[in-house]
Amino acid sequence: MSRPVLDDVENIKAVDKSNMINFCVNSAKLYREAAALADKIKVNYPKADNVIIAGMGGSGIGGDLLKDWARNQTAVPIEVNREYELPEYADKKTLVLITSYSGDTEESLSAFLDALKRKCMIFCVTSDGALLENAERLKVPHLRVPSGMPPRAALPYLFVPLLICMEKMGLVSGASEELSESFQLIQKISQDNAPEKSTIENFSKALALNIGQTSPVVYGFGFYRSVAMRFKQQFNENSKIPAKWEVFSELNHNEIVGWERAGKLGKCFSAIFLRDAEEPNAIQSRIEITRELVEQAGVGLMEIQAQGKSRLARMLSTVCIGDFTSVYLAVLHGVDPTPVKTINYLKETLKQNGVKEKVISELAKLS
Ligand code: PA5
Repeated sequence: MSRPVLDDVENIKAVDKSNMINFCVNSAKLYREAAALADKIKVNYPKADNVIIAGMGGSGIGGDLLKDWARNQTAVPIEVNREYELPEYADKKTLVLITSYSGDTEESLSAFLDALKRKCMIFCVTSDGALLENAERLKVPHLRVPSGMPPRAALPYLFVPLLICMEKMGLVSGASEELSESFQLIQKISQDNAPEKSTIENFSKALALNIGQTSPVVYGFGFYRSVAMRFKQQFNENSKIPAKWEVFSELNHNEIVGWERAGKLGKCFSAIFLRDAEEPNAIQSRIEITRELVEQAGVGLMEIQAQGKSRLARMLSTVCIGDFTSVYLAVLHGVDPTPVKTINYLKETLKQNGVKEKVISELAKLS
């Protein structure tokens, strides 16, 4: 009898040609390397009044994770900017963290230009491109991270430096301790979910098999908001399927009504609830009732119980499960998780409008 498709390691390797699974397996190592690199960050700025993180896609999600992690401990407002311009309040007391893995993303370069014009305190995280070139030329504090990875696989390099930069500026505390718990837990999760572990003992493989041909809807709450967002992005980019994310309790005020008339569509979805043994009672009741409502619509239900003690370990280890699941789901669908040809097509085609060229030429005029 042939082995199930996800228990055949050779099959995983054959579909996952660029070895995206390897980034998942090695994520603890990447996080540790990112922390060692971030340790070198030197920032000589006064304490900021507010923080804006500007980045898109795989480079923007680190900003959302940071915002959610810091919410209960920092006195400064944090906003993730995905627009070409910064919000009107951005000024010289604003710390702007520009993150773009390629360093060539139009929106991020435009936000960088805007931050320079507004004389914000800027720190860039990038591996290359016009962002690196201009940060070097204009002597803007920055961290160059290793190149050659898909941006979403470089999450450790795009997230940890933001956290450490904020800690060094006295805007958050406890990051280093929470990171070391996270590294250990991620290492364990990576071993438990590795391709060699069979479906029976491998949570992510089982989750991918349960999702099967459906479209996953990921429900988070509190600081799992950004984790749910990351799951959705990974299902899109790695598994190449439509997916969405929602957050409690807002989803109780709109989303649940949509399931009333799902009809045959209900079977096309699966709902993944991000759970935590310490979830607040108010949220727990909402999740329980929502589970029943969604199940009545014929939607398959799944749950992920977060592991770890600290907030950061819970967030990052749950992200790790989502990353593995999205790669296994890609293998199940027979698609290579790494190429994002639609994003590349879009970026290529957009070049014709000249917007990025204009931003780069405006940057070049600055001295
Ligand atoms: O994962 C991806 O490839 C994308 O989501 C990119 O991260 C996004 O297009 C932004 O590019 P970059 O990360 O290079 O700024």
